Amino acid sequence: MNKVKGQKSENEIRERLFQTLKDFYEKSAGDVFIPGETMIHYSSAIFDHREVFAALETVLDGWLGVGKMAACFEEEFSKFLETKNTVLTNSGSSANLLAVSSLKLERGCEVITPAVTFPTTFNPLVQNCLKPVLLDVDSETYNINPDDLEKAVSEKTRLIMIPHTLGNPNDMSAIMDFAEDNNLFVIEDACDALGSKFNGKYVSTFGNMGTFSFYPAHHMTMGEGGAVVSNDSELSITVRSMRDWGRACVCPVCRIALDPNASCPLRFKGDILPDYDKKYVYINIGYNLKPLELQAAFGLQQLKRLPEFIRRRKENFKILFNAFLEYEDYFILPKSIKGADPCWFAFPLTVRDPAPFNRKDAVEWFERHKIATRMLFAGNIIRQPAYRDIDCRVVGDLKNSDKVMSGTFFIGLHPGIDEARMNYILDIVEKFGGKYL
Ligand SMILES: Cc1ncc(COP(=O)(O)O)c(C=O)c1O
Repeated sequence: MNKVKGQKSENEIRERLFQTLKDFYEKSAGDVFIPGETMIHYSSAIFDHREVFAALETVLDGWLGVGKMAACFEEEFSKFLETKNTVLTNSGSSANLLAVSSLKLERGCEVITPAVTFPTTFNPLVQNCLKPVLLDVDSETYNINPDDLEKAVSEKTRLIMIPHTLGNPNDMSAIMDFAEDNNLFVIEDACDALGSKFNGKYVSTFGNMGTFSFYPAHHMTMGEGGAVVSNDSELSITVRSMRDWGRACVCPVCRIALDPNASCPLRFKGDILPDYDKKYVYINIGYNLKPLELQAAFGLQQLKRLPEFIRRRKENFKILFNAFLEYEDYFILPKSIKGADPCWFAFPLTVRDPAPFNRKDAVEWFERHKIATRMLFAGNIIRQPAYRDIDCRVVGDLKNSDKVMSGTFFIGLHPGIDEARMNYILDIVEKFGGKYL
């Protein structure tokens, strides 16, 4: 078969595949909502033939590992955030591990971080033999109070590891001022906070590095996936190297991935181990935390939908907030600080003490009515079995963190919660009020 002819039939097959996937998604009943029967999940991935086709195309193209789609995603994601560098990873947990590891802090250095956290925001500290210094959180924002940083800092402190809890921005002015005054690194865990801003700037872009997760629960998805973003190009090179086994080869996209017939002019050049193939020169003690090309292609399509996802999350937050206002005497409602423009991950509620019901009653009510609930991740992490014996320093009594552990839960506000689902949630909230109040 001549090449042009072959190309033509390949394109036709691809077009047919695209159309078949489109038909599938258009005809699939998928989204029927039966109030009280269909579970309203706390999160939901929204995608169709466009993501699936883009992912499949990478497989058809025959390049499975990180390649041009990954490079393209990194460029587009950096543009979106207005940051210099993005390194795509296989999860948000990997992004946190890489961000912390890339700083190469000395064993025993202290890291200030909140007690209410996600395990893999915290774990890289322990895994890097650093000492967590735990701060309490505010009971309405679920973030730290920056005034407490002064109580936590010591001459061993090197890093502030700060999650924007459930998408709610921290006071990044105060945190960055403190970090600058005390010569500390800052890593922002923005895994739950894509689209959230503080003083008009996306969170993740204030500190030395920011991290993201693209697990289906998050603001956009690749199935699994994550990213480390940074304006510091040196740090990004270290992150990329450590992601890729620690090797010296750190072009954002390998030219061999772009063209399998190309040869790389850099492979046998370099000062370290001259004449040794750079692909096998190791400048860091690394990992393999690379994503698949398929994830990047999926993510590129999701990125196009992101502004709409953000708009819907913000809208749903407002509706839920107004509905729960009536019950503010019994629930602590989520609040943001001045300058914050959150794109919430979920809608958190903390049952006040006293209230005519407890968290178990509230959670059982929502779950019984097919509205999924979740706890605020680990709660006070040092109450979790795995962390009871870790070497850490606690500042204050962590009273609010314990309260999160005993009284907080969240429900969803993702873009899959349409008008019908939201009306149903509002009805169930009202009935809850009727039952208990
Ligand atoms: C704040 C935070 N950090 C990190 C992660 C880990 O992300 P991943 O599940 O992609 O590993 C999560 C996951 O939900 C998270 O909520």
